Amino acid sequence: MKKGLLFLGLTILVYACTGDRLTNPLDIELKNALERVSPNKNLSGWELPQSDDYSRIPTESQNPLSDAKVELGKMLFYETGLARNSVHENGGGTYSCATCHVPSAGFMPGRAQGIADGGIGFGSIGESRIMMDNYEETELDVQGARALSLLNVAYVTNTTWSGKFGARDVNEGTEDVWPFDPLLEANYEGLSGLESQNMEGLDLHRMVVDDFVLDILGYREMYDEAFPDFPESERYGRKTTSFAVSAYIRTLLSTEAPFQRWVRGDEDAMSDQEKRGALVFFGKAGCYRCHKGPALNSMEFHALGVFDLYESGGFNTGPEDIRNFGRGGFTLRPEDNYKFKVPGIYNMGDSPFYFHGSSRHSLRSVVDYFNRGIPENPRIPGEQISPLFHPLNLTEGEIEDLITFLDNGLRDPNLERYVPDFVLSGNCFPNNDSLSRRDLGCD
Ligand code: HEC
Ligand code: HEC
Repeated sequence: MKKGLLFLGLTILVYACTGDRLTNPLDIELKNALERVSPNKNLSGWELPQSDDYSRIPTESQNPLSDAKVELGKMLFYETGLARNSVHENGGGTYSCATCHVPSAGFMPGRAQGIADGGIGFGSIGESRIMMDNYEETELDVQGARALSLLNVAYVTNTTWSGKFGARDVNEGTEDVWPFDPLLEANYEGLSGLESQNMEGLDLHRMVVDDFVLDILGYREMYDEAFPDFPESERYGRKTTSFAVSAYIRTLLSTEAPFQRWVRGDEDAMSDQEKRGALVFFGKAGCYRCHKGPALNSMEFHALGVFDLYESGGFNTGPEDIRNFGRGGFTLRPEDNYKFKVPGIYNMGDSPFYFHGSSRHSLRSVVDYFNRGIPENPRIPGEQISPLFHPLNLTEGEIEDLITFLDNGLRDPNLERYVPDFVLSGNCFPNNDSLSRRDLGCD
């Protein structure tokens, strides 16, 4: 009788605590763990907004989201017709933003380093791209770090691995170093990271919006619809193009990932193994101490002591590449050296090149690296390494659960919904060179 009452009492307690009918003890445990470390002490602190819920998506106030802007950005991002400033003629019209941010590769390049102008070929996710015969290495559009994923970038206030773009947030107080980097001119406009970077990005990636793009390819009307408030003299430039592309990429939200569906109340969305992996992530392994909030990213900079891209054989990069210095390469403050922004980690299983230097090639190898807690790059001074990077003593079972959580629980299986059916030029995309056209089935 007493036992029965105790059981009844416990049951009521469980109901009362969770507020709904969670019957699997793992669900209850995970909910408690998530609430404990949630930014707002509530499960909703982990929830991404739906991509059409513009009022909940973090946005630049000077660039409010609208359907017309997102639609325009959704075309321009894939439009190989903007590639009008290539170094050699045969590179013209062959690449787009999505060459290095491939949707099926989790908006990463699908290889250790992205190659836009001067590259040829695609494969299935970008892995087969190589250098065009008539380009010199120094003529390629490549960078000395792996392209960041663009999933959930609405939660990134200051962009790139060093966080150098964007006038506010973590860049307040860095104004003294902006003059040293000509690309940072855009920061003086007082905009957020995405708007600033994408203005410069168009030039850097040799893309142009001109009368050909507006009137022959036919984008003028879409600009008119997206930017009716801009006087005509300012409506079709670099700034509006950046605004449209920024609006579009802010809608790239991994809301269909099992973990997101679970957070919204669908307890069957994750397997027991994924739930156990989530418990490791938000508990013993301490991943949540740096990967925070709905995007599991943060605007913190930490040194994990990983190798740089030149060590994986990237083009046009080397030991002196400013990108190797992380945040310090931008702020020029030695205490920031080798510290990199904490990236979002949804859909990481889609492209097997991890960390800024693509030094790890499987999620198991990433988890092993965190579990061992020993920096691989001997050049990084020990005092720079984050105190949160240390041996974790995970068991083999915990490691496997964690990998499953990263690989499946954090994978949105339907990113295709963000890809347009066509671009106005009618060109092949994301790439339009002869080899890519064949790989992509455009011929
Ligand atoms: C040649 C490959 C390449 C192309 C083309 C390219 N990107 Fe990138 N992108 C990168 C790399 C590399 C980084 C990381 C750079 C760094 O940290 O220094 C990056 C970073 C970004 C980021 C920052 C994300 C973050 O979390 O900080 C945004 C936003 C972005 N790219 C948008 C775009 C847009 C929009 C275009 C088209 C105009 C574009 N990219 C074209 C390679 C490319
Ligand atoms: C000290 C803060 C910190 C902790 C703790 C941490 N991370 Fe990270 N994580 C980072 C930073 C910073 C990077 C990027 C480092 C670089 O590339 O130089 C990163 C990168 C990653 C990447 C690769 C992302 C990419 O774009 O290549 C994955 C996956 C990842 N972390 C998962 C985890 C998991 C799983 C845990 C827990 C075992 C964890 N992280 C713990 C800070 C942290």
